Amino acid sequence: MSRERIVTGKPVTEEEEAFSWSLRPKTLDEYIGQSAVVKKLAISLESAKKRGEPQEHMLLYGPPGLGKTTLAHIVSKEMNARLITASGPTLNRIADLMGILTNLDKGDVFFIDEIHRLPTNVEEFIYPAMEDFRVDFVVDKGPFSKVINVPLKRFTLIGASTRVGLLSAPLRDRFGISYHLDFYPPEDMFKIVVRSAEILGVNIDKEGGQIIAGCSRGTPRIANRLLRRSRDYALVKADSHITAEVAKKSLEMEGIDNRGLDDLDRKFLRIITDYYQGGPVGIEAIAATLAEETSTLEELVEPYLLKIGFLTRTKRGRSVTHETYKHLGLPFNGSVQESLFD
Ligand code: ADE
Repeated sequence: MSRERIVTGKPVTEEEEAFSWSLRPKTLDEYIGQSAVVKKLAISLESAKKRGEPQEHMLLYGPPGLGKTTLAHIVSKEMNARLITASGPTLNRIADLMGILTNLDKGDVFFIDEIHRLPTNVEEFIYPAMEDFRVDFVVDKGPFSKVINVPLKRFTLIGASTRVGLLSAPLRDRFGISYHLDFYPPEDMFKIVVRSAEILGVNIDKEGGQIIAGCSRGTPRIANRLLRRSRDYALVKADSHITAEVAKKSLEMEGIDNRGLDDLDRKFLRIITDYYQGGPVGIEAIAATLAEETSTLEELVEPYLLKIGFLTRTKRGRSVTHETYKHLGLPFNGSVQESLFD
């Protein structure tokens, strides 16, 4: 089942992509947050420029909406090169990949989103391209088949993944650099909301900004989406000014609570509290009850619930916490606490 969610980190429509595009930082200087990654990347880029060589291959991983694609754009811009983008699941023909790789110039950035979903044969085809900047292309089948060795220009591969655990070790090992992007703390989220509001020419006061930042699950893409909803609400109902009241009302209309949880999050948690006494329960059982894919829950629902301590994960399954009961306004039956110490 697919649901429309406003608080997912995944891009929802092309229009939204275009909108968030205008808000994305174009340089590392403009980038707010992820300071450990930004510092390391700045040094690595400067070193590459000084050496006159392309940036090393880079793996970026973490939940959706935190800036992996943005960083790939910034790298290509800093290197004065082109960015060519593809996505793991759609890159399923060797011929397509061959076409892309042989057209890359020195320093170009080839960005593969959801790289953990590359088909195995395509993944193996990429290994020599990454390591030795060549591809071995087999032509013909049977007794007349031969391997043509095609040299490539020295490009940079940037792989992005929301599920780094699913990446094969040989692929992971071929990235010289690997950066983890984590959810942004509230101070950074607030700065991002204020910056986006400025770019959009939206009037927002401090409290309004804090409310939107606090409900954005540490994810800039969600913050920008919520800002847009609040802007619409303000335009229609409140003199185009986003106050605390306006922010609260517009989030309420979207079904988002004060921790940024939506209906799907709350249903997920309620299954554990109401049917499984707080857990532990396997993710498959929760997914079946919700009629959702386990991968959707693992990628889009669980990471933030884990982050804010509303969910714990052990070998025996998922459990909720005392905090979850409090948030949902449910009486705490006392048995969950034990499962936290498994
Ligand atoms: N917009 C989206 N992500 C951002 C970030 N990390 N810094 C500044 N603006 C952003």
